[in-house]
Amino acid sequence: MMTVNKLGASIFQENYKSPLGRWNESSWIRNKPLREGNIEGLPFSPDLVPLADHPAIASDSTHRVTVLAYRLLAHLQFTTLLELSHVNPVCSSVAQGNAPIFLSTLQRNDALRIYCDEGGHALFVELFSTQVEEAFGLDRSVIGRPHFDRIIEKIIAEHQTRLSPHLIQLFFVTISETLVTKVLNNVPQDPQVSPIVRAVIGDHAADEALHSIYFRGLFPILWQSLASDEQEEMGQLLPQLVWAFLAPDRQLEYNILRRLGFNAKDSEGILEEVYVPSQIAKFVRQAANPTLKMFAAAGVLDDRTIEQVFADYELI
Ligand SMILES: [Fe+2]
Ligand SMILES: [Fe+2]
Repeated sequence: MMTVNKLGASIFQENYKSPLGRWNESSWIRNKPLREGNIEGLPFSPDLVPLADHPAIASDSTHRVTVLAYRLLAHLQFTTLLELSHVNPVCSSVAQGNAPIFLSTLQRNDALRIYCDEGGHALFVELFSTQVEEAFGLDRSVIGRPHFDRIIEKIIAEHQTRLSPHLIQLFFVTISETLVTKVLNNVPQDPQVSPIVRAVIGDHAADEALHSIYFRGLFPILWQSLASDEQEEMGQLLPQLVWAFLAPDRQLEYNILRRLGFNAKDSEGILEEVYVPSQIAKFVRQAANPTLKMFAAAGVLDDRTIEQVFADYELI
C-alpha cells in the first residue's frame, strides 16, 4: 500500500532545522509549573462562544457563565482525547521510525519530544478539568464524546479498505497539529478571562506553536510519499478531516442547553439561530487558512478532482 519517496525524504532531512532546539528551556514539561489559583473572571472568551450571545443565554448571567464554563471543560476534555488517543499514537510511531518516510535521529527524537509535551498537556488539562468542575458545579457527562472523535472513527471505517487507519490518523494529526486554533491564540490574550485559564491555555499554545512548525515540514514529504491512487483517495479525505477538527460541536451545545433546563425543541431552535450554515463554512475556511496554504504549497490542489472536493466542502 505504501511507497517511499526517498529523494523527498532526504531533502527534508538535509534541510531540517529543529523547531525544538530550545525545548529544555521553552517547553512546559521541562521548565514550567502547574498553574495554581482560583478561577476569577470569566472561564472562557465569550467571543469564541456564539451560544453565549444568544438572548436566551445572555439575558441570564448564571446561564452565561455556565455555558462558558462548559465550553472551557469541553476544550480541556477535547485536548486530553486529542493528545492521548490521536497525537501521541502518531508521535510514538514517528519516533520509532514507523512513519512511511525516512527520518533522521534528530527528527525522530523531536517527535518523541512532542510526545512528552502532549503527555504533559493531557496531565495539566486533566488536573485543571477537576478544578473547573468543582468551581462551577459542572457534570462531566454533559460533555460527551467530542464531535471530531466520532467523525474520525466514521471516516476510518468507511475508507480502511483503501487507506490504512494508521495513515488516515497520521494525516489527521498533521492537520490538527498545524492548526493553532482560535482558542489557543485568543484565550491567553483575553483580559475578560480568568488569569489561571489564560495561563493554562497559554502554556499549551506556546508548545503547540512549535509543533505546528514540525508538522508543516513533515506534510509535503508525507504527501509525496503516497502513490498517485493513494493521493487521490487521501486528497478527497483532507477536507473532511479539516471539518472534523474545526466544525462546532453541536451535540455538545445541545447537551449544555438541556442541562440548563431548555426542552429539546427550544434547544434545537436556539442552535438553529446560533449556527447559520454559511457562517459556519466561512469560520471553518478562515480557521483552516494556514493548513489550506500548506496543502496548496505541497501541490495537493494541483489535482482537479481533489480541488473540486475542497470546493464542495467550501474550503476554497
Ligand atoms: Fe498539545
Ligand atoms: Fe501538539
